Amino acid sequence: MLMSASNSNPTLEVLISEARIAARVQELAVEISADYHDRLLHLIGVLNGSWVFLADLSRHLEIPVTVDFMGISSYGQGTTSSGEVRITKDLDGSLAGLDILVVEDILDSGSTFLYLEKILKARQPRSLRLVTLLDKPVRRVQPVRADYVGFTIPDLFVVGYGLDYAQQYRHLRDVCVLRLPGSESVA
Ligand code: IMP
Ligand code: MG
Repeated sequence: MLMSASNSNPTLEVLISEARIAARVQELAVEISADYHDRLLHLIGVLNGSWVFLADLSRHLEIPVTVDFMGISSYGQGTTSSGEVRITKDLDGSLAGLDILVVEDILDSGSTFLYLEKILKARQPRSLRLVTLLDKPVRRVQPVRADYVGFTIPDLFVVGYGLDYAQQYRHLRDVCVLRLPGSESVA
């Protein structure tokens, strides 16, 4: 059984530095701004993990932008997805006729986005795409791919830049691998 993070002195190792993240986020914003040239883009941040990425990405976009958030829970307090996805906060506004870009922190099994895509498409947006800061393709269970990917990473459990372990570490500036004593990583 995993010990709780507060009692066990986990180690953190930088995987992607603050500087690399900043440079890549800027590149993504340039690419997205070109693809949606002259259009209004409606960003949907998937809470809680995507809020830091969304804040940085949106401030580099050079097109008109609106923002809404959806709360989704799939992990609970653990480190492996329960497979059961549920909405904890719905969007405030309608999606009808809008160009939607869903903003995710990480694409893992794909279950969360598959579920979200079904719900959002039923609300008749003009278009729907996905940008994810991180992609762990080896973990994929569902046939899901992102339109824009910040970094492709191996099968490691990462925290920081919005990503958490039991709600901790979201405020770290780098993306770090979290390892607990006695385990290679918590993945
Ligand atoms: P999926 O449904 O398996 O694709 O999982 C997506 C969600 O799981 C992400 O939005 C994260 O909240 C969480 N997640 C997956 N891998 C990690 C990780 O390495 N660290 C922290 N959260 C993760
Ligand atoms: Mg998430």
